[in-house]
Amino acid sequence: MTRLVVFCFVLIGLVAVFNLESFKTIPVNNTRFDIKKAEEAHAAKIAELAEIEKMKLEALKPKVEEEEVVDEGPLVVLDTPQLVSGDKLYAKCMVCHGKRGEGKSSQNAPKIGGQMDWYIEKQLVDMKNKVRVNKVMDPYIKNLSDQDFKDLAAYISKLPWKK
Ligand code: HEC
Repeated sequence: MTRLVVFCFVLIGLVAVFNLESFKTIPVNNTRFDIKKAEEAHAAKIAELAEIEKMKLEALKPKVEEEEVVDEGPLVVLDTPQLVSGDKLYAKCMVCHGKRGEGKSSQNAPKIGGQMDWYIEKQLVDMKNKVRVNKVMDPYIKNLSDQDFKDLAAYISKLPWKK
């Protein structure tokens, strides 16, 4: 009996050893792993990550600079005497209506930049004649002439209609 057991163990041992031997001889295919390609892919990935990082930083930058540049440019090309006069007169209106005529909610002043010139002129004339009552603007327009209103309307209608 013991002999049979020993024989079985030896047999199992031999089978195991031969099996392991056969594993060793399985050819290993290394052709799919190309170190050069892997390095190139790695470098490309790093470049991509750097690009993403750059875009992130770009997105995080405050946009104030850009807007300042826009503001610095001439809002209206003052190529006629009327526009020059309108530009001067508009200086008083900016407090409430903003440099670009964008309006100010804190002043309840509506956006007027880019509005049609005939409409602006009519509102100003009506306000002066008290057809349209606007107490806050009264001191600013009571000393202006009809020509001033025309100049203002021409200038304001050319202001960029943006936010
Ligand atoms: C003190 C603030 C203030 C100043 C300064 C001011 N406005 Fe106004 N403006 C207002 C307010 C408030 C209204 C809205 C009035 C209303 O509700 O009817 C208005 C309305 C207007 C409107 C009518 C807009 C519309 O859509 O009907 C025009 C045009 C206008 N202003 C032009 C001017 C001009 C031009 C000047 C400079 C001469 C000027 N404003 C100065 C406060 C001001």
